[in-house]
Amino acid sequence: MAVAIRQGQPGDIPELVEMINGFAGRNLMLPRTPEAVMKTLPDWLVAVERETDGTESLLGCGSLVALTPELAEVRSLAVHERGQGKGVGSTVVENLVALAKAREFSQVCALTLREEFFQRLGFEIVDRWSISPKLWQECIYCPKFHRCDEVAVVKYLTVRRPEEAGPGKHVAANPLLKWQAWQPLKLAYSYKPIHLHEE
Ligand SMILES: CC(C)(COP(=O)(O)OP(=O)(O)OC[C@H]1O[C@@H](n2cnc3c(N)ncnc32)[C@H](O)[C@@H]1OP(=O)(O)O)[C@@H](O)C(=O)NCCC(=O)NCCS
Repeated sequence: MAVAIRQGQPGDIPELVEMINGFAGRNLMLPRTPEAVMKTLPDWLVAVERETDGTESLLGCGSLVALTPELAEVRSLAVHERGQGKGVGSTVVENLVALAKAREFSQVCALTLREEFFQRLGFEIVDRWSISPKLWQECIYCPKFHRCDEVAVVKYLTVRRPEEAGPGKHVAANPLLKWQAWQPLKLAYSYKPIHLHEE
């Protein structure tokens, strides 16, 4: 099968939304509307199967969402059932990571139920609360909001964490996730608890 990765085009949207919403119906990912995909189309990559006559059929997709100037999220990753287990999903993620690098992000993250899949691609599992809360801004729309089983994963692109750097190796001044990005969350936690039933 000849698989090509390219930027999403308006003509891909109906098939793409149908695939995503099929998986969303099984609680594997969040649904998308055609309008939402259209608005963010430059951020979408699709995997297509190309026939010798040039016709294409959609196999998979994924999008890159900027959460902060440093951090991008791989979102809406999906591969049609007929194309799964053949490396298509991995190729989409690798291309989204390359896109993130080209757009000068220093980290890419994802929320996933398939953490081993992302780990094989160089992502590592992190505490979900160490990531900007912007990662969670969509969670209120998720049917699993109150029983979330997703795992947060991050891949470091242009910077190294201090413990990874050997002697003499460059370490960026601010290699970790932007703390100021989740300051409101910290403040929320610092409120004094209210005791309704004082003894
Ligand atoms: C998760 C998903 C995107 C993975 O896509 P995929 O195309 O099946 O992914 P790959 O084929 O690259 O990798 C899947 C497995 O096949 C294996 N594989 C990769 N290339 C292969 C090849 N050429 N031949 C056989 N197996 C291969 C990989 O080792 C991988 O194993 P792992 O899952 O244990 O890491 C896909 O299963 C999917 O769309 N699921 C439903 C929607 C969903 O859950 N989306 C949210 C994802 S966060």
